[in-house]
Amino acid sequence: MTVICKASAYAHANIALAKYWGKSDVALNLPAVPSISLTLEALRTDTTLVFDKTLTHDELQINATQAKEADQKRVSAFLTFLRERYQQKCFARVQTRNNFPTAAGLASSASGFAALVIAFDQAFNLGLSKSELSALARRGSASAARSIFGGFAKLDAGIAGHDALGAQPLFDAQHWDLRVVVAITTEQAKPLGSTAAMTLAKETSFYYDAWVKHAPSLCQTIEQALGERSLTKLGPALEASAMSMHACMLASRPAIIYWNAATLSVLSALKHARETTNLAAYATMDAGPQVKVFCLPADASRVEALLMTCEGVQRTLTSKAGPGAQVTEAT
Ligand code: DP6
Repeated sequence: MTVICKASAYAHANIALAKYWGKSDVALNLPAVPSISLTLEALRTDTTLVFDKTLTHDELQINATQAKEADQKRVSAFLTFLRERYQQKCFARVQTRNNFPTAAGLASSASGFAALVIAFDQAFNLGLSKSELSALARRGSASAARSIFGGFAKLDAGIAGHDALGAQPLFDAQHWDLRVVVAITTEQAKPLGSTAAMTLAKETSFYYDAWVKHAPSLCQTIEQALGERSLTKLGPALEASAMSMHACMLASRPAIIYWNAATLSVLSALKHARETTNLAAYATMDAGPQVKVFCLPADASRVEALLMTCEGVQRTLTSKAGPGAQVTEAT
């Protein structure tokens, strides 16, 4: 027997309503600002981990294809961190599959690292708590800490040197039945990963300090609006969080521009529909050109139709709230 142990797990991507952008501790990957997200049922990553004594290094396949070197290195570094912490030595074969565009601003690292941590815990029978799993996932990618939980999750800002920070569940998926309609404007991977972009923003953007100063109050408003289930309070605040984060990126040198023409076309169509027809639908964008629109279930098909009228939108994808990361039961 060369296989020591194996396990499979899945996790869903999450979309931040209050954005995480910037780190208070790069080595421990602690966020500089608090963030709140919704885990999405429709965006799922499935991962299988096989620890095999014959391997001389970790192997990573994404969607049945050998991963790029940078992705291999990142996952292997994370596995090495887990191995050191839990006194393991064996290398792993990692097979991961996303049912959505990988690395195009649709949070594949969030679901990817969350699924990886759950599979690691299962493979070695560690019995870690959700809060511990979330703190470990954060070391891989801070947004992954939130994907451990279903529904709405919050990740506080970290204090440098304090490694125990994990996300917490804020409201479960049943608390408020919101929809997210994603306008897919490209299936291409993003040119600059969020980790590198955050460093560039911190080092060069005039607006970075202002972002870190003001993000917590936006996050607080978003938390209150979720508690009150008030879309008219939530919408403007979630848009302000996304726009302020992108303003910080735009003021970096060189400017970090994740949007494309279709992104702007969607923003303008939404604004027009809100002003002329009172459509309650609000947009957010991450490190990519896709636009994610929050609305009530009754308005989802209207939003889908509106987005499809925008030039450059290839397709839409609609999701409700999804569950937290879990072990895949053997069949
Ligand atoms: C724009 O979690 O991908 O999606 O911790 O460096 O891996 P690292 O960054 P990552 O950043 C996500 C940034 C964002 C906003 C968000 O999801 O909160």
